[in-house]
Amino acid sequence: DWSMESFIEQEIDKIRKQVGDKKVLCALSGGVDSSVVAALIHKAIGDQLTCIFVDHGLLRKNEGDMVMKTFRDEFQMNIIKVDAEDRFLSKLEGVSDPEQKRKIIGNEFIYVFDDEADKIKDIDYLAQGTLYTDIVESGTETAQTIKSHHNVGGLPENMQFELLEPLNTLFKDEVRALGTELGVPEDIVWRQPFPGPGLGIRVLGAITKDKLQIVRESDAILRDEIKNAGLDRDIWQYFTVLPDIRSVGVMGDARTYDYTIGIRAVTSIDGMTSDWARIPWEVLEKISTRIVNEVEHINRVVYDITSKPPATIEWE
Ligand code: XMP
Repeated sequence: DWSMESFIEQEIDKIRKQVGDKKVLCALSGGVDSSVVAALIHKAIGDQLTCIFVDHGLLRKNEGDMVMKTFRDEFQMNIIKVDAEDRFLSKLEGVSDPEQKRKIIGNEFIYVFDDEADKIKDIDYLAQGTLYTDIVESGTETAQTIKSHHNVGGLPENMQFELLEPLNTLFKDEVRALGTELGVPEDIVWRQPFPGPGLGIRVLGAITKDKLQIVRESDAILRDEIKNAGLDRDIWQYFTVLPDIRSVGVMGDARTYDYTIGIRAVTSIDGMTSDWARIPWEVLEKISTRIVNEVEHINRVVYDITSKPPATIEWE
């Protein structure tokens, strides 16, 4: 009979037998799947595992620090953080087409990962947080690409590693239970989905550091207030977007001409379809007031009330 404890025991045994005294590499994003796979493999083989965490400069507020605190300081894993913000932002400079942005970010991620992996000698295995649903879904791809997904798990085929995918029989809820059992913090285990291209597709159009900062600060306020309202487990995903528009406002006695922030919050089962979340007005009011007061260059906040379809969850 199946229990989490016996699953962990069995998997650890399997990983140890398979890996022997060889080395394993893992691309850690701080998302649920890669975090849980890293924790499981670390429990099995300790220092034979090295994780690479690429900070592409498109992460949410405090995300990089949180990942390092958890996995380097608490789990005491071998983890290499690559500060690649400049590399990504220079490649993205002036690029406003969403698909092109996605491709640049996805490709650059692979180059950065490749560069780092090259520096570590004698790696035999690459660990990936592939779930059962990932395998099933990739068999049913539609003919038309709506958006080219970049996922931290998806690395190039030319890499000479054998794959280690110990989560590939599990569903998301089982991965969460496994993570909890392994001591992965609640903030990570229950983290909302976050796309591989990160804030890069939430600053609409061409990306600048200033615009990233606006979306990052407003997103932090939104997350804060959703959590305060006790809604963080009910809403599938919630984030802010910065459309490339400015409008007229008034602050004190002065006219302003500044950016609009969009709030996106949706309920969903699997991200394939979604409905906009009926966030109580008082919560929305608090979020709006705080964003306008605390984030420079924002003088207007709007709430996205479209379902998917016809809209998508992300705006790019
Ligand atoms: P859309 O915008 O297509 O998003 O309705 C559906 C879900 O997928 C997430 N998403 C991504 N996840 N890499 C990912 O790992 C990506 O490139 C990517 N693009 C969108 C999105 O956040 C939502 O949960």
